[in-house]
Amino acid sequence: MSIDYKKIVADIKGAQSLDNLEDLRVKYLGRKSDLSAKLAGIGKLPAEERGLAGKHLNEAKIALEKALVEQKNRLESDALVAATSDNTLDVTLPTNPHYGHAHPVLQVIDDIVRTFAQMGYSVVDGPEVEDEWHNFEALNIPAGHPARDMQDTFYLEGGNLPRTHTSGMQIRFMENNKPPIRIICPGKVYRNEDEDARHSWTFYQIEGLVIDKGISLADLKGTLLAMVQGVFGKDTQIRLRPNFFPYTEPSVEMDATCIMCRGDGCHVCSGTGWLELGGAGMVHPQVLRNVGLDPDVYSGFAFGFGPERLAMIKYQIPDVREFWRPSMKFLEQF
Ligand code: PHE
Repeated sequence: MSIDYKKIVADIKGAQSLDNLEDLRVKYLGRKSDLSAKLAGIGKLPAEERGLAGKHLNEAKIALEKALVEQKNRLESDALVAATSDNTLDVTLPTNPHYGHAHPVLQVIDDIVRTFAQMGYSVVDGPEVEDEWHNFEALNIPAGHPARDMQDTFYLEGGNLPRTHTSGMQIRFMENNKPPIRIICPGKVYRNEDEDARHSWTFYQIEGLVIDKGISLADLKGTLLAMVQGVFGKDTQIRLRPNFFPYTEPSVEMDATCIMCRGDGCHVCSGTGWLELGGAGMVHPQVLRNVGLDPDVYSGFAFGFGPERLAMIKYQIPDVREFWRPSMKFLEQF
């Protein structure tokens, strides 16, 4: 009841290929092998012989399995050496990896979102297809109101529309959350506009909303100042000019110190020293009423601006269409 496994190990070590090795495995360790038959026969041996025979056969099995694994590793590494030694594969060749990165507009959005997150704002997302209530009516822009012409709207069948601004999110959030509210809402918007170097039918907006007791225009100004200083540097100033939006009163247009000339006047700011960044204002009392808030108790401010415009200023890009052309040459610069 013994096996001369040293001879078999030598046989395995002589295998010249993986196929050859597999044949040997089947022959010596397979179900029909001598070893398997002997292991199965242990039970039939006289009791006093069983222990010794079992020990020997197990030793044999372990030795054969070990030899098989070792020979397999040897054959595989020999094959690798053979494949690489004729110089067809140079593993030292630099692979020149092509790293991707965030789109420049998304980088600007990230900068702004980070600045507001540090001030305790939450980032909220909303649907790109809006209804008229959230995009217009709740924002104090009833049907037929001339203010609808401020935004050229695409309409969808059934009366919904791709949102023309992210302001609908103010309404959605106020409908579902109680003050204090501090949110920032970045997202894509759509307008039925002809494309040129400064306009596009789709672009990003970042809108912010704060609602609490005792919020004033001074809070809005301080917040906008913190934002532009976060994105453009500590020596940036802002100024507010009167404007009109149906959903804010008073409404302002916000300008920031030109980042190119720092206020002296240059071609980027058309000699004014200021760059127009976006719109803002104190949330109109009627908008608060539309979402069930009492304007005698709560007040707040909202603002919105375009990150493409900020990115154009920051990276000195003369044409907004560049951002959305599928040109790696352009995008790889950032
Ligand atoms: N929704 C305005 C726009 O699309 C921007 C804005 C937001 C103005 C919030 C005031 C307050 O231009």
